[in-house]
Amino acid sequence: MTEVVYYDILVADFFTVLNGVEFLSKKAFIGVYGCQMNIADAERMEGVLGTLGYERIGEMQDADLILLNTCCVRETAEDKVYGKIGEIKHIKQKNPQLIFGITGCMAQKEGEALIKRAPHIDFVLGTGRVAELGNVVKQLEDEQVHHFVDTTMDDAVEAASRMPVEREGTLSAWVPIMYGCNNFCTYCIVPYVRGRERSRRPEEILAEVRDAAAKGFKEVTLLGQNVNSYGNDREDGMSFAELLTEVDKVEGIERVRYMTSHPKDLSDAVIEAVKNGKHICEHFHLPVQYGTDHLLHRMNRKYTVAQYKALVERIREAVPNASITTDLIVGFPGETDEDFQGMLDFLREVRYDAAYTFIFSRRSGTPAADMPDQIPDELKKERLHKLMDVQNEISLSINEKLVGSEAEVLVEGPSRTDESVWTGHTRTSKIVLWPYTGKEQPGELRRVSITQAQTWLLKGTLAE
Ligand code: SAM
Ligand code: SF4
Ligand code: F3S
Repeated sequence: MTEVVYYDILVADFFTVLNGVEFLSKKAFIGVYGCQMNIADAERMEGVLGTLGYERIGEMQDADLILLNTCCVRETAEDKVYGKIGEIKHIKQKNPQLIFGITGCMAQKEGEALIKRAPHIDFVLGTGRVAELGNVVKQLEDEQVHHFVDTTMDDAVEAASRMPVEREGTLSAWVPIMYGCNNFCTYCIVPYVRGRERSRRPEEILAEVRDAAAKGFKEVTLLGQNVNSYGNDREDGMSFAELLTEVDKVEGIERVRYMTSHPKDLSDAVIEAVKNGKHICEHFHLPVQYGTDHLLHRMNRKYTVAQYKALVERIREAVPNASITTDLIVGFPGETDEDFQGMLDFLREVRYDAAYTFIFSRRSGTPAADMPDQIPDELKKERLHKLMDVQNEISLSINEKLVGSEAEVLVEGPSRTDESVWTGHTRTSKIVLWPYTGKEQPGELRRVSITQAQTWLLKGTLAE
């Protein structure tokens, strides 16, 4: 390869020359919806597309390939994707060579129906077929196939370890430890679109964590729908608590996080692991979903309010400075005024640091979608606002108590809106903002004196 040709290629912005190999420099836009698991999957998809010569770009207009990694947990999530699919129709009309694919949970749920509804979609690949992405894109590029749909529930566990990963960011790494869910909460679509629980082998997880540490990542978040049941489907005997402790030992990793914990399965061993761990963060995200036994039973959550409160007590006793956050659903079928009042009382009693609040969304195929006594939309919204008001007041009052204290933050960098204000998270997962001093570097652990509290964040100054 002569230098002149190389120069011409650069000017043409058409070919890339890498180690003497020439291949098309193609651009991929990957839109990600939904939870952290979808982000983690998309990082693997980006890795695979990278091996085919694609680089990721931020704008759909210039893309040779568009991938939407979708979510269907609530109707609003699906609506966003349908909106995007509509937008992409115009791009495809201008550029018929564009390859357009749908992956993720909506792909799994809808399959072929997506292409029937929007024929400009070229392929639909379900959650268990992520590893096939490279083959499918190649076949479409070579025009061996024109449309492709596969929603077979294969083993995503093996795929995860085979696929190269192109991580977003440089500090914090998502590491899936298990896929799927066995719990079948009556409102939830996830078990239907992600299949049964499958745990990755501990050595593969640890290898991935070590690899992230070697690349400079300081924080890992271990991902699963119910990390507490990690390993139950394997014979090699490592529990989630043991896995946490092993991950804690990986050199270079300063913070270990995990999500999500199902309260019915959070063991004392995990609480002990957090208490005794050096890098395991003192934050428990423990979705309760509701605060009365009547609704917890209808939701099939398999714990009572009393059991949940006892668990919170055990956590607070063992790790007194831990933060506890939750997910809440209002407007579940059969929710009475008494239930709702019970929920508000429950919140005032437990006092979460923060809560992610959702309006119940009917997901066809789930038992709750067909339950009698569905709640009218207006009432759902009214209850959501009341609930948020109560929770916001609690979050603010907990944060206000932190004013005057010091907290360790992992320095992330400038905040989105102001270069002179930097941001990071505490071990308890609270966002902290402070005026940039010019001395801190992303990835450092620094102490911040907290001077101001808001509902969702803290402000302070960097301590020397
Ligand atoms: N596996 C996790 C657990 O059990 O806590 C959470 C998984 S789900 C992706 C995240 C949250 O979405 C749930 O905790 C629940 O609050 C909410 N969610 C799930 N299905 C919902 C539905 N049909 N309507 C409203 N919110 C829903
Ligand atoms: Fe959904 Fe329940 Fe499984 Fe969480 S535990 S993913 S809410 S079915
Ligand atoms: Fe959505 Fe699937 Fe996650 S439905 S919340 S992307 S597991």
